[in-house]
Amino acid sequence: MVQPTPNHFSGLEHLATAIILLDDNRRVVYINPGAEIIFAFSATHVTGMLIDDVFPNCEILMLAVRNASQQQSPFREHEFVISTHRHQSFAVTCTVTPIDSPNASLILEFQQMDAQLRIAREERMLIQQQANAELLRNLAHEIRNPLGGLRGAAQLLEHELPSPSLREYTQVIIKEADRLQSLMDRLLIPHRAPKYQPTNIHEVLERVRSLLLAESPKAVLIKRDYDLSLPELIGDREKLIQAVLNIARNAVQAMQSRNTPGSQLTFRTRAERQVTLARKRYRVAIKLEIMDNGPGIPADIRERIFYPLVSGNEGGTGLGLTLAQTFITQHHGMIECESAPGHTCFTILLPIETSVIKPMVSANNT
Ligand SMILES: Nc1ncnc2c1ncn2[C@@H]1O[C@H](COP(=O)(O)OP(=O)(O)O)[C@@H](O)[C@H]1O
Ligand SMILES: [Mg+2]
Repeated sequence: MVQPTPNHFSGLEHLATAIILLDDNRRVVYINPGAEIIFAFSATHVTGMLIDDVFPNCEILMLAVRNASQQQSPFREHEFVISTHRHQSFAVTCTVTPIDSPNASLILEFQQMDAQLRIAREERMLIQQQANAELLRNLAHEIRNPLGGLRGAAQLLEHELPSPSLREYTQVIIKEADRLQSLMDRLLIPHRAPKYQPTNIHEVLERVRSLLLAESPKAVLIKRDYDLSLPELIGDREKLIQAVLNIARNAVQAMQSRNTPGSQLTFRTRAERQVTLARKRYRVAIKLEIMDNGPGIPADIRERIFYPLVSGNEGGTGLGLTLAQTFITQHHGMIECESAPGHTCFTILLPIETSVIKPMVSANNT
């Protein structure tokens, strides 16, 4: 968003940090492009608003603003979480400094924290994912019922047709209805409640490996780089197998489709310490990397591969990664993906101390 910068603030425009200026009444008189980017709101919208309304319920910030203006000295608040009026949360460090200007009396400078950046992104992803799952579920229900009616009617019609040659048409209706039906079933079925039990991640990986080798014995070399000292996690074995299989199978398919010479898939496990996942801190997590040296994820879908129905393959359902993500989230873990031609890596983090695992309401019911 381009904002007409009043001349007196023009220097601030080029700063990478986020700057917000307030007048005597705590109203926003200026926000720089850095702040627009970090907080994802537009200057036009926010200018003139009370800072209390831009970041509602943020007492830490309000206290800093009050203290700085009363004591006429800078105030710094370290690493706190701030939520915008659009309900987005960010972890920031903020310095509030009184200034002597006819147009503004306080300057707020925000720096976004890196580790926290990921948390905010994860939260957004989780919300997005839950919305996706719900949308899909509703859509599948809505489609299933009329589909049954269509199919039934086509069958009745078929019996009444005067000429058998017309059956070709009713058969198209019936076959296509069946195809849609099985897609809807796939959307709805996998959401049984997870069964948690001590699970060895390497057993999961070995199972996926043998399934893949059975599917396409010669196509790829599957390398294992395991940290065998990893403890078991409390998880749903079948769902973990399905999640890893969906990811690994995509890799095999991608490499096969391009006939990548020296195709290679690698499973690597490591321990990752002090991990924060969905705002909860864990002492240890399993880091599982699934890497391939295939062509990479097509650039036009790279940002959306976890969304349902996004597929780069003809005939693909675009559900494999959506399901994988749902299953991993049910284990309070997360998936990330990096991809370039010649190197694609899906990283899964699974917390180990999941004795506290509680069904995540939204994920379970999906
Ligand atoms: N390792 C990979 N290499 C290249 N492309 C990939 C890889 N993993 C996923 N993709 C792309 O992501 C898309 C979405 O995958 P997925 O959700 O499993 O749906 P589907 O396999 O039904 O297309 C795939 O169609 C493919 O284009
Ligand atoms: Mg797939």
